Amino acid sequence: MYKIVEKEILSEVTKRIVVEAPQVARKAQAGQFVIIRIDERGERIPLTIADYERDAGLVTLIFQEVGKTTRQLGTLEPGDALATVVGPLGHPSEIENYGTVVCVGGGVGIAPVFPIARALKEAGNHVISIIGARNKDLLFWEDRMRAVSDELIVCTDDGSYGRKALVTEPLKELLEERAGEIARVWAIGPAIMMKFVSLTTHPFNVPTIVSLNSIMVDGTGMCGCCRVLVNGEARFVCVDGPEFEGHEVDWDNLLSRLQFYREEEQLALERWEHECRLDAALQEKGGA
Ligand code: FAD
Ligand code: FES
Ligand code: MG
Repeated sequence: MYKIVEKEILSEVTKRIVVEAPQVARKAQAGQFVIIRIDERGERIPLTIADYERDAGLVTLIFQEVGKTTRQLGTLEPGDALATVVGPLGHPSEIENYGTVVCVGGGVGIAPVFPIARALKEAGNHVISIIGARNKDLLFWEDRMRAVSDELIVCTDDGSYGRKALVTEPLKELLEERAGEIARVWAIGPAIMMKFVSLTTHPFNVPTIVSLNSIMVDGTGMCGCCRVLVNGEARFVCVDGPEFEGHEVDWDNLLSRLQFYREEEQLALERWEHECRLDAALQEKGGA
């Protein structure tokens, strides 16, 4: 069992947990992820390693509550434990001194972009970061991102904090103003955001690394669930990625595959909510 030792509420739907997983912490590198199961009957879900402490044997996970498993995960408290934490999985980010780089984090994607920005900074890059969310309440880790960035631009879609813009707007301005200077862009966030970041950088011919969030089950290249099309060829995100060159990704294929189990996901959520209501009613009756 993998004990949760710390929990922090980052926003109404975003939570941070620190989990005891010494074998994962020992080998974790920026860009990698784990596959967790809450309990023996639980589904497997991939979550990026947002941070790690090798000596203490701890990994930090940040998740957005979007459905049954992430909602259930959000109910756990320090002292509770996860049944499995498998990893680190996937290839680490390719960190070198490229010169000037831009790291873009959208929504919960701010968490996985943080260790990459930190590693790029440590490798001597001039790091410009752009972080964005739908509104102020969904933003987190501005302080952490500022600490590892030479320049930081903060945006919200509704203008409730920072600049009122989508992350692609300041990115396009940077590319126009500093043509030739920006060597590489990293972008992590919802698939639709990564698609539009890739479309923004394409005319400027700047390599753009994205971390794909396809549906995963086994995480070992066996089930085929996470298949994506890159440069017209089938690739498995769990073993060949998760990072790919964004200009080569077939985004429409990924976006439609992400919707594939919507009906089952909705049913799973409704069943879980029903069980929670029953449990609460039983407890109330028992206590009365
Ligand atoms: P559901 O209602 O079951 O699903 C909601 C949506 O999430 C689905 O429509 C689908 O698009 C996606 N999804 C569902 N099941 C899976 C699955 N088994 N694998 C992948 N996507 C799925 N989210 C975070 O909040 N924080 C992270 O750090 C993070 N890192 C990720 C790293 C990788 C490599 C990948 C592939 C995904 C990552 N995700 C992350 C997405 C996260 O795995 C999904 O949000 C989660 O599985 C949803 O589960 P659910 O049961 O709560 O929601
Ligand atoms: Fe099964 Fe990648 S998750 S092949
Ligand atoms: Mg699910």
